[in-house]
This record gives sequence, C-alpha cells and structure tokens, in this order.
Amino acid sequence: MNILSVAAECAPYAKIGGLGDVVSALPKDWEQLGHNCVIVIPKYRDIDVQKYNFQPTNITVVVPMSSWKEYARVWMGTLPGTKNVRVCLLESYDYFDRKGIYGNPDGFSDNDRRFTFLSRACFEVAKALDFTPDILHAHDYHTSLALAFLKSHYRFDPRFARCAGVYTIHNMAFQGQSDPRRVLEFAQLGTQNFRGSWFEHDGVVNLMKTGLMFADKITTVSPNYANEIRWTSFGEGMQDYVEMRSGDFLGVLNGADYTEWNPETDTNIKHHYTPETLNEKALVKQELLQESVPAYDVQEDLPLIGMVSRLTDQKGIILVEQVLERLVKSGRVRFAILGSGDSRYERFFNAMGKKYPTRVLYSNGYNNALSHKIIAASDYIMVPSLFEPCGLTQIFALKYGTVPIVRATGGLADTVEEYNPETGTGNGFLFEKYVSRSLLNAISRAVYYYKSTPHWDTVRLNGMACNYSSRLSAENYINVFTWALQRIGRRT
Ligand code: ADP
Ligand code: GLC
Repeated sequence: MNILSVAAECAPYAKIGGLGDVVSALPKDWEQLGHNCVIVIPKYRDIDVQKYNFQPTNITVVVPMSSWKEYARVWMGTLPGTKNVRVCLLESYDYFDRKGIYGNPDGFSDNDRRFTFLSRACFEVAKALDFTPDILHAHDYHTSLALAFLKSHYRFDPRFARCAGVYTIHNMAFQGQSDPRRVLEFAQLGTQNFRGSWFEHDGVVNLMKTGLMFADKITTVSPNYANEIRWTSFGEGMQDYVEMRSGDFLGVLNGADYTEWNPETDTNIKHHYTPETLNEKALVKQELLQESVPAYDVQEDLPLIGMVSRLTDQKGIILVEQVLERLVKSGRVRFAILGSGDSRYERFFNAMGKKYPTRVLYSNGYNNALSHKIIAASDYIMVPSLFEPCGLTQIFALKYGTVPIVRATGGLADTVEEYNPETGTGNGFLFEKYVSRSLLNAISRAVYYYKSTPHWDTVRLNGMACNYSSRLSAENYINVFTWALQRIGRRT
C-alpha cells in the first residue's frame, strides 16, 4: 500500500508528546511489511535540518487558500532507521518559521490557518512526488481537514479518487474549535449551510468533528479509550458523532519502537541488561543517582519512582502535588521527574527539588536522552493520569523492567495489569479513583514488593515479557486500511 501520513509532529524532528512517536514508529514497520509511506509535516524553525540530513528540493508546491494561492518549498529527508520512508518538510516563513509547534500556553492565534495550509499542502506534495496514495492517514484535529479535502476538492482527481481516508484520534481533549468565517474560507469550503454541517459543533468549526465525519475509518489509540470516548464524558461532547460512526471506529493500541526503547541496546545508558541479566539494572540506577544526588550514599537504597511527562492537568500532576512531600518526608522513596508544562506544576517540582535535593530529582525541559535514563534507572514509573488515550511511558518502562504505577484509565488500563502475589501474574499496580488516597495506596502496594523475593523479580520479568511493539500496531493499522479501502469499494 501507498500511505500518505500527515501530522503536526514526527519524532525525532518535532515532538511534544506521543503523537510524534507514533507518527514516526508506524512507517518503519510498514516499510518492513512491504508498504510505502510518505510523511508530510511542517518545517518548524527548531527542526535541525543538518543533523537529520534534510535537503531543500526544487519542488515548490502551490497551495490554494481562499481565493488566492500560497507556496511552500519542500525539503526532503529519509526517516532514520528506514531505507526509503520519505519525510517532506513544508517550508513556509509565515506559518512555521517561529519558535514552537503549537504555541504555548494558548496556541498561536493563526493555528487554524497554519493547519488548514498543512492539510491542503499534503495533496500537492503527493502530486509533486508523483505519489498515488491508497491511504491518507491524518492524525488529530490538526490535519483532519485533509479528510474533508479528500472528499471534496480532490475527490475527482484521479490520483486521489481511489484513496481512502483514515483518521486517528490521539487526544479527544483538543478539538480545534475555530471561527467558521476564517477556516472554511481558507479551506475553500464555503460557509453556507454551516449550521448542522459536518464542520459545526456548538456554532463554531470543530475540526475533531470534521475528522470524525469525513474519514472512511476512524481509530483511536487504545481499545479502552475507544469505549471511553464513546460512552463517557471523555468524549468531550463528541460522543454522538463517535456513536454515529461506531461501525467505522476502532481502538488500535499504540506500540513502542523497540529499536529505540530496549535496555539491551539503548545508547543513552551505559549499562545494558536483558531479562537474564536483570541485576545489572541496578547499575543504571546507581549511575543516575551518582550523577544527580548531592553526596550520594550508596548504602541508602530507596525505591526510585520516575516520571517523564508533560506537566498538565491530564497527567494527574495535581495528585502528585498532594502526595509527594508526604512520601518524601516518610523517607521511604525517592523521585526522578522530567517534564515541563504548566508553570504552576513546574514551580512545585522546582521547589520540592530545592527543598529535598537528595530525594526529589527534578529536571525541567525536554530531554530525550534523560527520558531514556530515567525510564531505565527507575524502579517504578508513575502515570496517575486523569485520562490517557494510550500513554507510552508505561509501555517503554515495561520493557526496561521498570514497574508501572498507573491510574486505570484509557490505554493505561489496557497495558498494565495489577500484580497478583498469589498467582504471580500482572506487571504493575493500578488505582481507580482519581483521589490522592488511591494513588498513595497504589504506591504503598508497589513499594511493599520492592526487593521482596520472589515478587520483585516476577513483576519486573512479567513486564519485560510483554510485547507492545509498534510492529503489532502497524499490522493492525494495515488491517484498518484494508477495511477502509473496502468501504470505498476497492478490493485489496
Ligand atoms: P502524551 O502524548 O500525552 O504526552 P505519551 O505517554 O503518549 O503522552 O507520550 C509522551 C512522549 O513524550 C514519550 O515519548 C515521553 O518519553 C516523551 N516525553 C514527555 N515529556 C518529556 C520530556 N520532558 N523530555 C523528553 N521526553 C518527554
Ligand atoms: C496523545 C495522548 C497519549 C497517547 C499519544 C500517542 O498525546 O495523550 O495518551 O499515547 O497521544 O497516541
């Protein structure tokens, strides 16, 4: 199959969260499965074109916007770890040559226009490359308009007439609400009959709804979240549309790129280990602590709880705020936290780090190498999210024998199973209620088994034996794509 993937993020070039990981992991596996993929993302100012060997091309795509035309030069590179997955960066001074991807904290005021441009330009890139996609794969509201374009402006274009559109929802909480007079004008879709249209929700354009309505098939990133957005308030007002499309809707669990996330080969850590040499994991922890704890005392062996996370309400940081100091004071645990986000949470962790420099190791900012180190070095990874479409850090952690302590929501509940000391099954510890007492309880249960024989090894080895590889996820997407092609009457 030929797959055209269009998104706002793609690791390692431009990544805020798991969206970037997934957009880059899937094509690697698709290539190995014999499929072709072209990825289109913006050329953000922060992308290091030299490091990743991007070259400017002589292709300039002409992108119709409203009643005029706009332009973008295409830069080309090859996705690391692949032979021939082409990554096309759209160069536009007006839209993408600025700091950041979405604009913090409230988003750039012209995001509607920037993402309309991206969603339209991807068709022009395919034409310029003479690439005829079987599947257009759009991710989150940023590129959902591409699915509307597929069924409108490009419907009778022979290059796209036999192409099916698949929409993957990574996070229902962000819906791209905007002023219809702007977006629909830019998109050349007209504002007449706007009320009740596939673009409208609550009187404004809602790009999440647009994706839901125009896609041939829709996926979200875990089976449990698929149920949650259909049946519960996590649907964020979109429940009726999800229900309407339920015959074309499926949860496909994310996977990890195990060429990047593997304790045996990870280049970000000095000591490597496998299930057979799990004892060596202690050396990774020791190294991290020696590097970061002032006057580290090797004798003081405390469980290390790690977190690598955006610091936002979604991630349950408020619960951490409520329990952290108490736990630290009890002298039973130590924390290693990496993350940035809401200033309130950053201030909290900074203050805790200053107050308890040997017990709370906090690094503000985005740091890929450190994220690997923390996940490998920690005994536990904590993900107490309010909601979590899938979550990747717990999936990475399992492979490293790092035990997840998570809230039973979304993909966390699909990937983590409570450890049962009697049967020796399970790979982590879960809590249900979104209250700090429940989190504390789960932490206590988890820490109770720290270094206790045989449980400590059993729970860690159970985790390491789990296979949440992006290969499985990539295969599932191919099934969804086949299903999408059937929907438009194509046999595969
Ligand atoms: P989300 O997409 O909601 O942020 P995920 O768990 O799906 O949550 O993905 C988060 C991704 O971002 C993971 O790859 C994680 O390692 C990475 N990440 C989050 N915060 C940081 C950070 N401060 N530095 C480096 N990587 C980070
Ligand atoms: C979103 C979700 C996260 C998911 C990621 C990748 O950012 O918040 O749960 O893992 O997308 O699909």
